[in-house]
Amino acid sequence: MVRQPTRYGGTNWLAESESAARDRTHFGLTQERWHQMKIGVIGCGYLGAVHAACMSTVGHQVYGYEIDVAKAEGLNSARTPFFEPGFDEMLSEQLGTGRLAFGSDPQPLADCDAVFICVGTPQLKGELAADTRYVTAAFETVADVVRSNALIIGKSTVPVGTADRASQLLAERAPHLTVAWNPEFLREGKAVKDTLRPDRLVFGVENEGSEELLREIYADPIADGCPVLVTDFPTAELVKVAANSFLATKISFINAMSEVCEVVGADVTQLADAIGYDARIGRSFLGAGLGFGGGCLPKDIRAFMARAGELGVDQALSFLREVDAINMRRRSRMVEMAHEQLGGTVIGQRIAVLGAAFKPDSDDIRDSPALNVAAQLLLRGADVVVTDPQAVENARRKWPDLTFADTPMEALQKADLILLLTEWDEYKQLDPQQVGAVVRHKQIIDGRNALDPQSWRDAGFVYRALGRPRV
Ligand code: UGA
Repeated sequence: MVRQPTRYGGTNWLAESESAARDRTHFGLTQERWHQMKIGVIGCGYLGAVHAACMSTVGHQVYGYEIDVAKAEGLNSARTPFFEPGFDEMLSEQLGTGRLAFGSDPQPLADCDAVFICVGTPQLKGELAADTRYVTAAFETVADVVRSNALIIGKSTVPVGTADRASQLLAERAPHLTVAWNPEFLREGKAVKDTLRPDRLVFGVENEGSEELLREIYADPIADGCPVLVTDFPTAELVKVAANSFLATKISFINAMSEVCEVVGADVTQLADAIGYDARIGRSFLGAGLGFGGGCLPKDIRAFMARAGELGVDQALSFLREVDAINMRRRSRMVEMAHEQLGGTVIGQRIAVLGAAFKPDSDDIRDSPALNVAAQLLLRGADVVVTDPQAVENARRKWPDLTFADTPMEALQKADLILLLTEWDEYKQLDPQQVGAVVRHKQIIDGRNALDPQSWRDAGFVYRALGRPRV
């Protein structure tokens, strides 16, 4: 299928500037390979905003549609609503080329060649299942608005069967549109790199034309050798939840070993190193500690279990219940360890919590293990001071009763106990001698196995960690 280049003339919402045309060469795209398309992105949160800007860097004309007016206006003025290394610069640069725009009017989607659906699928309140109402609304929007023969590409993480339903919806309401499913594997904190240079591309398609268009859109990473897997809708949908379930299982596996290590006095970090050398196992995602959180892994394994129940194969995924339970037990264990370390009660004791984000290089606090522990200790009467390089504002909105500090040294003043709960580099680099000079009691629990125990012990600290022996 050879598609005609899109024309951008007259009153188009994004006229290509001369500099934008010159910019193409910056990305090493040859004239033959380069094919500018008009791309829409629905939902400009983490996934959508990064995807939109990255699509612009490879030369496509991109319009990001976001119903939250303030968010759309902010993005259009180069204000990023979240912290993501490298994204601010990319956003300003791409807005400057004239190829990228955001707005809360869906009309500019009308003549797109392709529209990506990047809306969220959060966990339903009081249920394990995912809330797919935003995905349905996005497909209804394209059915109402898009007039061209566009490919509508789902990227959101969805229960298997969603793409088929979307395809039926479009067949009834907008038969000129075609559906494809192209799951996203980006990690927060590495979103730009993961989007520009994914480790694989999965195309769930119903015809060759859809595959060809996707290959054109991703010409750049494909030319760099990125593997492409072309498959059907259910497989494409399952790849994403299977990948996240596997990652969650790996983390919970090592955390289960951690529970055993704590009882027998073994060291889970050495255990992980030793089994990780086996290439069939691998060391990544065997980081034992406080476990997984965030907006993806926890809700994705739960939604997968719920969907398996609907499909009558719940037994196949019953192990994920245990994965979830092991993960949540780590948080309770951390609270218990803090109690033990403080002589059986936390009431009135000052606990400095290093980290609020669910992982480093992010300001995302959704289901953050760190904040969960901080809040539990607060509710038990501790005087908890939380610090984080990026997530303090988000954390304060969610837990206004916690005390917050802008810097680690401020949080550590007169602390009776330090908990390292998110392994930001700046916490790993703290000097135990300096810290020892400002705290009331030299005790630290490393919830992420991120510190060098010896240097803390040498500075006179009682150092404890999840899954490691006490000395
Ligand atoms: C995860 C997946 O890694 C991405 O591939 C996927 O695209 C994304 O979900 C998604 O579904 O959108 P993300 O949630 O950004 O990405 O974070 P991860 O890097 O996977 O970390 C998840 C959690 O596991 C964090 O709380 C982290 O601290 C924890 N973790 C990670 C461990 O406890 N141990 C490890 O060894 C690794």
